[in-house]
Amino acid sequence: MSKKSMHVVLMVACFIFSVSGMAAAGVVGSKHDFSLLNPTPSNFSGIYQAAGEDIVETCVFCHTPHSAASAAATGVQGLLWNRTNSIAASFTPYTSGTLSVTSGATGLTLMCMSCHDGITSIAVGALINAPSPATNPSQVTAFGSDKIGSIWNVPTPNPFGFEWGANIGNLDPALGLSGRVANLSDDHPVSFTWILNNKDIRDPADWTGTGATALKLFNNRMECSTCHDVHDNTEAPFLRMSNVNSDMCTTCHIK
Ligand code: HEC
Ligand code: HEC
Ligand code: HEC
Ligand code: HEC
Repeated sequence: MSKKSMHVVLMVACFIFSVSGMAAAGVVGSKHDFSLLNPTPSNFSGIYQAAGEDIVETCVFCHTPHSAASAAATGVQGLLWNRTNSIAASFTPYTSGTLSVTSGATGLTLMCMSCHDGITSIAVGALINAPSPATNPSQVTAFGSDKIGSIWNVPTPNPFGFEWGANIGNLDPALGLSGRVANLSDDHPVSFTWILNNKDIRDPADWTGTGATALKLFNNRMECSTCHDVHDNTEAPFLRMSNVNSDMCTTCHIK
């Protein structure tokens, strides 16, 4: 091969590598990467740490290799979970006249709500096992004193206002300690054991369209993570499969 064609081959290889790099799945660089090193920073990455405490880890905002949360703290056994529960007092579940399941907020769904309730802190100091050197107690976020790090409290200027989509629990710190009832009544039902007593819904064995096998039940339960993959934003927003043409909805719903 001539030097020139070798050069072209290398350039093409680099191009393919960088394109596939852009589409790379994973937490690093996604909106769930709250480390200082996030190459495509979101409103949250790198800011919920005190000056001089550079948190360069990504997984730590949700998992820790040691001293992880107990099942009692999260309602979930295992997963080396590094977060305390949502500080919401309770959750209003979705109900309707036609629903045949009982929606709630337990287990895996509670893990999402430990940030997506709107008020519980994402700050490193609020983690169960904060990475070194994040030991500064001033970062610990107690409701009512320091709201830094809650989804509600997006940095200024806040382009979204209070009606910000990521605040799934709709909680507003300004409401005070009473009335901390996170609102899941306006969200798709979650946290229920899968039953097929509704003829319009497909059995998981028939989730066979493009990408549909990525949809997942957890211990035969439907959770936020049935539709979402926290670790992969290839199909934004963190969806397990494409929802173009509402393909994800119609994987389950015969509509
Ligand atoms: C924003 C929170 C969050 C971050 C950051 C995060 N995870 Fe997770 N992880 C979860 C949740 C929630 C689950 C529960 C299962 C699910 O939703 O898929 C989980 C499950 C897991 C599991 C067990 C199930 C599986 O999919 O294999 C592993 C292993 C894991 N995470 C590793 C990692 C690693 C490694 C990183 C860092 C590169 C990371 N996670 C970053 C939230 C997170
Ligand atoms: C450690 C806190 C934390 C946990 C745990 C967490 N999230 Fe998030 N998530 C965030 C923050 C903060 C954002 C907003 C980032 C931004 O827009 O800059 C976000 C954004 C999202 C988005 C929207 C992304 C977009 O493009 O607008 C989805 C969807 C999402 N999270 C789903 C989940 C689900 C489902 C779970 C549980 C399986 C979960 N998250 C767990 C903190 C968390
Ligand atoms: C039935 C599937 C499904 C379930 C279950 C589900 N989501 Fe979503 N979620 C979606 C889809 C689809 C979107 C994108 C909506 C759009 O762009 O119109 C979305 C969007 C989001 C967003 C981005 C902001 C917004 O409102 O668009 C967040 C954050 C989010 N979901 C978090 C969660 C959390 C937390 C749970 C569990 C309490 C959950 N989701 C359960 C399908 C689901
Ligand atoms: C993983 C399977 C799954 C996916 C994906 C899914 N759903 Fe559902 N959905 C369900 C189940 C199960 C129920 C509960 C049905 C019942 O038992 O009444 C439900 C309930 C609903 C309800 C409430 C029905 C009622 O009677 O109150 C609506 C509306 C709905 N889904 C719309 C959607 C839309 C829109 C999407 C896509 C954004 C979607 N679903 C994605 C499984 C799914």
